Amino acid sequence: MMTPLENERLKYQPRIPAILKNAANLAAKESGRNTVSAELKAAFPHIGSAERVTFVEGAKKQEKPLKVGVFFSGGQAPGGHNVIAGLYDLLMTLSPKSELVGFLGGPSGLVDGKAIVLDEEKIALFRNQGGFHLLGSGRTKIETTEQFEKVRKVIEGMNLDGLVVIGGDDSNTNAAYLAEDFAKREIACTVIGVPKTIDGDLKTEDVEISFGFDTAAKVYSELIGNLGKDLLSAKKMWAFVKLMGRSASHLTLECALNTQPNIALIGEEIEEKKKTLQEIVKEITDVVVQRAKQDKPYGLILIPEGIVEFIPEFKRLIGHLNTLLAEGKGPEQLDEEGKNLFYLLPKVFQEQLTLERDPHGNVQVSKIETERLFMKLVEEEIKRRGEKVSFSPQPFFFGYEARASLPTNFDANYCYGLGMVAALGVSLGMTGRMAALSNLYLPAEQWLPNLAPLVAMMGFEMRKGERKGVITKALVDLDGDMYKHFVNVSSKWKFEDRYLCPGPIQYFGPETVTDILPWMIKVRR
Ligand code: FBP
Repeated sequence: MMTPLENERLKYQPRIPAILKNAANLAAKESGRNTVSAELKAAFPHIGSAERVTFVEGAKKQEKPLKVGVFFSGGQAPGGHNVIAGLYDLLMTLSPKSELVGFLGGPSGLVDGKAIVLDEEKIALFRNQGGFHLLGSGRTKIETTEQFEKVRKVIEGMNLDGLVVIGGDDSNTNAAYLAEDFAKREIACTVIGVPKTIDGDLKTEDVEISFGFDTAAKVYSELIGNLGKDLLSAKKMWAFVKLMGRSASHLTLECALNTQPNIALIGEEIEEKKKTLQEIVKEITDVVVQRAKQDKPYGLILIPEGIVEFIPEFKRLIGHLNTLLAEGKGPEQLDEEGKNLFYLLPKVFQEQLTLERDPHGNVQVSKIETERLFMKLVEEEIKRRGEKVSFSPQPFFFGYEARASLPTNFDANYCYGLGMVAALGVSLGMTGRMAALSNLYLPAEQWLPNLAPLVAMMGFEMRKGERKGVITKALVDLDGDMYKHFVNVSSKWKFEDRYLCPGPIQYFGPETVTDILPWMIKVRR
């Protein structure tokens, strides 16, 4: 059963880069440049020297049928089904005898060889739709010798020519290790990653944005904008809105520019200015008290879910807790400074900080109720100051609401194009690379496909007490145009009410409303 809107969206024809219309004639052109460090090259001797690839017109090739596997990995992001649609359509265009198989439930489906054949009939009802439910997803990390052995058997048993991993930084790190393993063992299966995450933190010179970010930010912005109008009408409440995005504050920054709240905390700025928890609470309280005295006992504050990882004393505490938990120890083993902070926190918050880490060793920031912590601390600070002002805070957490939404036109086009680039990459025998499209500020027809080497996106980090090569999260760039723009325009938001209401995503009508570019692309430096 589909809703009328879902049905209508099935008919949407993604706009594709002009160069991909002639994909059968395209040849790969390596850049001749590789900037990977010697340490990373040593860790990835077989794929560490891969170069960036662009596509140029060549002679029409005789395509052999390909067998390709694909899976979703990590959290849902709008547009994922279009990656599969683009991948499938181009594979069929290149050779109608090709085959696409989808692994079920994320990376664990690959390890256990649980797969289905994806044909036109199966894909048809998922075109331009939200969710990842065609295949499901998961966060299994492929790391043990036994898992690698099982994957090899599956790949060889199915005779796959290529594997497409649709995932975020951790999943594409997985993809790099798989590509290295296959190349080392001379398994003729290439690995191509696709940049997925609503968090927006998978971003490089080539990968201008991760898919799903645009839709998620627009869904949250609609809700925040509506809240703003409610605040203006009832004039009685402070909305403390925590937003998903893991460590990076990209979603908060994007939503802030869309909706103009009174305050938007940016984790990266807090870290740079080394602001303590107390300083942040004081700054928020100053605004709350001053507004109340101006007869505005209401307001809107956006809080990135990963903020705790940027407040220096919390960052230190979380780092220690990560190591202790990995060793099977608890907070009792923290040093003096750690204990002082930890035991000062409300009990429920203490519990949230010690929750099990995800399979990649990440703190589950979506489960830490920072919005409530700030509400409580601001309340206490108002009392401590002896201010007799009205303060009625209300917590909100916008996260899961947006991850499976119907993709915007931007995400529908972008994902379909990324799927096509992945298919082209496999057909040209490329491995250890990520499908990418650049020039995204231009109409989709002018987007430029390329394949970006995965190892070039990596750095070394401590994971579960070990130094490992992983894809580096791209945080908000405080020297970038987008943040600078935010600093310029947001100074007036604290005391003047400039809330904007973007309204719901539009799929029909003039392009001025259906194809609004994300700020991340509009003001890209
Ligand atoms: P990905 O990196 O997998 O895209 O994660 C996206 C995300 O929605 C984060 O914003 C959030 O912190 C996390 O997933 C929540 O994880 P889970 O789905 O396991 O609850």
